[in-house]
Amino acid sequence: MNYQSILEDIQKTTAEQIAAEPNAGQVADYIPELARVDPDRFGMALCNSEAGSKSLFAVGDAEHRFSIQSISKLFGLTLVMRELGGAAERIWSRVGVEPSGNPFNSLVQLEYEAGVPRNPFINAGAIVVSDLLCELFDEPKAELLGWVNRLAGQTDIEMDARVAASEWASRDRNAALAHMMKAFGNLHHDVDQVLDLYFHMCAIAMSCRELAIACDHLVQPAGECPISPRHAKRVLALMLTCGFYDESGEFAFSVGLSGKSGVGGGIIAVLPRKYSVAVLSPRLNAKGNSHRGTLALRRLTDLTGASLF
Ligand code: DON
Repeated sequence: MNYQSILEDIQKTTAEQIAAEPNAGQVADYIPELARVDPDRFGMALCNSEAGSKSLFAVGDAEHRFSIQSISKLFGLTLVMRELGGAAERIWSRVGVEPSGNPFNSLVQLEYEAGVPRNPFINAGAIVVSDLLCELFDEPKAELLGWVNRLAGQTDIEMDARVAASEWASRDRNAALAHMMKAFGNLHHDVDQVLDLYFHMCAIAMSCRELAIACDHLVQPAGECPISPRHAKRVLALMLTCGFYDESGEFAFSVGLSGKSGVGGGIIAVLPRKYSVAVLSPRLNAKGNSHRGTLALRRLTDLTGASLF
């Protein structure tokens, strides 16, 4: 498979598609710092690990670091799983594994489901995962950064303090989610401490190249893999069913990969036993997922003729 020429085709074809559209989406502006990004950036990187070796293919702004936002929910969860090991089952008494069918920051379901979030990839679920990180580590931010740097093979991936401060300043909805869960007894630490960690997790800045490499362990989970094959299987299932909020069904239907999006315009997706792929395009659709990024991944599975299904 000539992945480099496939990525080049995707870059060109999706640029033409977007140019012909009257509404190609808007950058997230409910977090002021995210409204400042260049809406027209496009980058894509694919890490292929078939046949026992790894090859990296990239186009456009694949080296540009951006705010990974909710993609970080994946790394928070895998760090908790790795740390708990055989006791990781206890995560699922505090957060579910079902798609929510609701927007990522919705409050409604949380009240009638007694403060237990539907899954770890909506905001409420990731806030519970942040609470678990506070329980497991004395320095959860440093542990999380260490984990992400290790997965990506880097040492200088950081949390963007300006983005974290901007999220803190506009925290009302997330604070409401956290206080509701605290009232139900499903948050054990101080709300402000947990939110501070959650916002810094969302503020991690990485490039498409780094994201593709960081998720390579989900492609071939075996041997020296950072998390067990059993945990990788569960993470990939959650990405497929819950990775795009109330658009998860549509993403499975049109793209057919396990994936996770963020309001910074990034998407990471995995085709088990073949590749991990990351794409950046900050203009979002109405559900908060990258519009061109979704088109790009759809074209990838169309051109390669390979998907989960
Ligand atoms: O809490 C928030 O609203 C953001 N830090 C993360 C949201 C996000 O990325 C949802 N994704 N598509």
